[in-house]
Amino acid sequence: MTKIDVLLGLQWGDEGKGKIVDVLTPNYDVVARFQGGPNAGHTLEFNGMKHVLHIIPSGIFHKDKINLIGNGVLIEPRIFRQEIEGIAEKGVDATKNLFISKKAHLILPSHRMMDAANEQAKGNSKIGSTLKGIGPAYTDKIARSGLRVGDVMAVDFIQRYGQLKRQHLMMARAMDFDVDSFRIDGMTLGEYEKVWMESLSTLKRFRFVNSEYFINQCLREDKKVLAEGAQAMMLDIDFGTYPFVTSSNTITAGVCTGLGVAPSTIGKVMGITKAYCTRVGAGPFPTQLDDETGRQLCELGHEYGATTGRPRRCGWIDIPALKYACMINGVTDLFVTKPDVMNDFDKVCMCTSYKIDGAEVDEIPYEYNTAAIEPVLREFEGWKCSLQGTSTYDALPEKLKVYLGEIERQTGVKVTAVSISPDRKDVLFKQ
Ligand code: GDP
Ligand code: IMO
Ligand code: MG
Repeated sequence: MTKIDVLLGLQWGDEGKGKIVDVLTPNYDVVARFQGGPNAGHTLEFNGMKHVLHIIPSGIFHKDKINLIGNGVLIEPRIFRQEIEGIAEKGVDATKNLFISKKAHLILPSHRMMDAANEQAKGNSKIGSTLKGIGPAYTDKIARSGLRVGDVMAVDFIQRYGQLKRQHLMMARAMDFDVDSFRIDGMTLGEYEKVWMESLSTLKRFRFVNSEYFINQCLREDKKVLAEGAQAMMLDIDFGTYPFVTSSNTITAGVCTGLGVAPSTIGKVMGITKAYCTRVGAGPFPTQLDDETGRQLCELGHEYGATTGRPRRCGWIDIPALKYACMINGVTDLFVTKPDVMNDFDKVCMCTSYKIDGAEVDEIPYEYNTAAIEPVLREFEGWKCSLQGTSTYDALPEKLKVYLGEIERQTGVKVTAVSISPDRKDVLFKQ
């Protein structure tokens, strides 16, 4: 029986997970998403083409590989249909190699409305949700009221859909939310419901599976499985910067509940971190730079959300957060992306600890959201050269290797590979 390898983000998302999954897929037989939904935006670039995936696993462009959407994932049928059409334009017929868990929950149009209603109710303390309905859909899952992919075939599906929608409408009105003015992609709730219902026909063309049996059978057959995380450690519902988090377990433990595999089946845990740090949406971010350097990171790194287009907040790499991520996830291998964004910087900084009330700490405190946290920074000389054309890890500039070496030393985890451009071909593995 083989082990299942895990790949996940160690910061606040958008570390380049999709790109690395795409690069690693040739080494695997199966790529499986285990949590999240269309709040994710995973960008792949190859042969001069750029593609953003939201619900579909990032192994989909490798035609001979199985891709699985696990029970822990949320599916919004219209977004799913748009994604399927998008990859079809690029010559990919996913009906052959994409399998979907019958236990994956559905995001209804009224979940998206509730997402907007909840955000409105929070006023100044809103999360900055992607408004894809994630929080309300997971809420209904936990409240045991949700609808699942397997239910779309049931005779009472429409009736159960109606019941849930009515409940959402009642809640929204009780929250003084203006249901009539609410729009999704310019459509009223009723109009969007129509296209949502039509989109179910696309969903039904796929093979619905008991994914827990499916994945365990793959492992018994010694197939190599890669679990692809969405969002990231610091957005985890339990261990992230609550309440400024998403509504799922984004961590390694989420692989077990989101796919139905035993903890003992977990193999390598590959953690992805940018060489700096970004965050989109609200919540604490101690190393954020509200200055010219922050703006440079945003512009040079094209730091705009792949799902919402919002500018991402940018800052220095945060070692206390990274150490926390390595501890919670049992990270065995680090992948560092985007050092190329800092090629022209005279100096690069690393936050090695925090100063809180005069005391130096390197743990994530419970009071993370409210405490005045001052990052303690260590400076590194910039490497001041282009990384373009670098074809081996050894050939990277020495000053960059010093920086990477310090990440290894601080976290106690080896840097297995470095990514130096958005393209599939630019990942340098350490020999
Ligand atoms: P994900 O959500 O973790 O899959 O990451 P996103 O796709 O949301 O954001 C990562 C962005 O960085 C995308 O635009 C990628 O094309 C880009 N990217 C990934 N790796 C690199 C890299 O090594 N260098 C540069 N410059 N861009 C990268
Ligand atoms: P990938 O997989 C970055 C953020 C949102 C918001 C918070 C809650 O591309 O890394 P939600 O819609 O889940 O209720 O939003 O989490 N967020 C992400 N930030 N990358 C993501 O996914 C994210 N998914 C959600 O901006 O702050
Ligand atoms: Mg993303």
